[in-house]
Amino acid sequence: MGFCSPVCKVLRRGKYFVLLFLSLSVLAWIAAFSGETVKSFQVSSTTTETLVKGDGLRDKLSPWTAAPDHLNTPTPKGECPPESPLLQGAVKLSFEPSLKLKDVESENKEVAKGKYEPTDCTARQSVAILIPHRSRERHLLYLLHHLHPFLQRQQLHYTIYIIQQAGVATFNRAKLLNVGYLEALKDYNWDCFIFHDVDLVPENDHNFYVCDKQPKHLVVGRNATGYKLRYKGYFGGVTAMTREQFLQVNGFSNTYWGWGGEDDDLRIRVELQKMTIVRPPTDVARYTMVFHKRDSGNEINKDRMRLLGRTPKVWRKDGLNSCSYKTLSVERLPLYVNVTVDIGKP
Ligand code: BGC
Repeated sequence: MGFCSPVCKVLRRGKYFVLLFLSLSVLAWIAAFSGETVKSFQVSSTTTETLVKGDGLRDKLSPWTAAPDHLNTPTPKGECPPESPLLQGAVKLSFEPSLKLKDVESENKEVAKGKYEPTDCTARQSVAILIPHRSRERHLLYLLHHLHPFLQRQQLHYTIYIIQQAGVATFNRAKLLNVGYLEALKDYNWDCFIFHDVDLVPENDHNFYVCDKQPKHLVVGRNATGYKLRYKGYFGGVTAMTREQFLQVNGFSNTYWGWGGEDDDLRIRVELQKMTIVRPPTDVARYTMVFHKRDSGNEINKDRMRLLGRTPKVWRKDGLNSCSYKTLSVERLPLYVNVTVDIGKP
C-alpha cells in the first residue's frame, strides 16, 4: 500500500498525458467537422440558386432558396400622417342635374362595396358613415359624389352605409341610426361612427370625419342659416361618436317618429354621462344643405317636447338595447352598403 516503483510512477504520469492528448484530439475533430458542415451548406445553397435561375424549380426548392422571412413579408405600412397631404380646404361644390350614379362610380374606382382604405399608409381611424334614407335618391347621389373623394383625401378607412326604412310608416331617423350602428358592427369593429343626414354636404375637408375623446358635432353652420349654430345645444345633422361613447349612452332613443327631437335627446344622453360636445372651428364646420320640401311621412313630431322630458328616466331602457327590427336585405353596391329594414311603426 502506498508503494510504487519509479517505473510505476512514469507509467502513471504517461496515462495522464494520453488522456490529455485524446481530449485535445476530440475537440480538434469537433471543430473541424462543424466548419465543414457550414461550408457544405453554403455550397449547396449557391448551387441551388444557379439551378433555380434556369429551370423554374423555384417553388419546389423554395425551402432552400426563399429569401429570409423578413424580406418576404410586406413591410408594414406606416400610420397615415395626423394631417393628410391630400387636403384641399374649402372646395367648390357642384350639384349638376345631369349627374348619374355611373359617373360617381367611375370617379371612385378605388371604392368597392362602399369601402375604401388608403394604399400607402394605415388609416388612423376606421369609420362607419351611417346615412338614414328614404326616397331621397337625388340627395344621396350628390352626397356620395362629394363625400367619397372628401373621405379619401382625409386618408380614412371607411364604409358608407345607407339605412333605408322600408314601408310607409312615419320616418324614424334615430332608430335607423341605431340599426346602422348594430349592422355595421357585424362587418367590422369600427372605431368611429358618423351619423349623417342625407341632405348635408361638407364644404371643407379640414372638417375631419374622425372621432375625438368627446362626442363631436360637425355642423356648426350651413348655408341655409347663414353658417351660424342654430342654438347652443344643437346636436343634429352630422355627429361623430366612438363605438364606446355611443354604447355608453345606449345609442339614440327609438321612440321619435317624424321630424325633430331625436338629436336633442341624444345630447341629453351625452350630458347625463358628463361628456361634453366638441365642435371643429366655425370656418371649417360648414355645410351646404340641398334644398328640399318637407317629405310626406316625416311630419313634425309634436310629441317631442314631452318625450325629451322623460329622457333622464328612460334612456337606460330605450336605445340600442331595445332596438328591434327586421333586416330585409343587405346589398353591397359599389358605392355603399344598402341596408333595408323594417323598423315597425309608431
Ligand atoms: C328639433 C331638432 C332640430 C332642430 C333644428 C329642434 O327644434 O328638436 O330635432 O334638429 O330644431 O332644426
